[in-house]
Amino acid sequence: MTKPDVVIPPAGRHGGDAERVATALGVDVAAILDLSASLNPLAPSVAHVVRRHADSAIRYPDPTRARASLAEAIGVADDWILLTNGGAEAIALVAAEIGGWVVEPEFALHPRGASGPRWRSNPNNPTGVLAAQGEVADVWDEAFYPLATGAWTRGDAGSGALVVGSLTKVFACPGLRLGYVIAQPDVIEHLARRQPQ
Ligand SMILES: Cc1ncc(COP(=O)(O)O)c(C=O)c1O
Repeated sequence: MTKPDVVIPPAGRHGGDAERVATALGVDVAAILDLSASLNPLAPSVAHVVRRHADSAIRYPDPTRARASLAEAIGVADDWILLTNGGAEAIALVAAEIGGWVVEPEFALHPRGASGPRWRSNPNNPTGVLAAQGEVADVWDEAFYPLATGAWTRGDAGSGALVVGSLTKVFACPGLRLGYVIAQPDVIEHLARRQPQ
């Protein structure tokens, strides 16, 4: 039951507003069940891994080893991967580079241009529908793909598409901001130049 003078903040563009809602209600954020974030409810907590690496917070990060680990898991060479601050940064980098359009309904952060590359989240957010085998797109957003299929990627980067992905959903770790792009090395190099160094 909310107090009559409590003003619930309007939903943000991306969801994941638990902290703001908790503050408005004056409750601990742990008391909020945030269904907008759509995280894996069965993921083991990443907290112990984060604690083990807490000392590294006093240094600037070097992404080389993390990139190699992710590349090995996905099954591509290291130079096919760019690590980003969440899937959201991966989307922003690719959208700034090539723009594009979507078939609605589609994830709010994808570009809404009139032409150019077609973007498709797979499975689609918000419908949850997986792409049919022969379906084509220029940019695939696989934020939910590992959770939906048990595989890291459908493999479209191998045929020239760009793939944006995220560890956020499958490992239920939105606070870590772990995203990536899979693409041919020259594209990766181009996108990397857009990231602040
Ligand atoms: C389809 C889709 N792509 C990308 C993202 C962004 O992922 P991240 O939270 O890692 O920035 C989300 C998050 O809701 C999403 O639903």
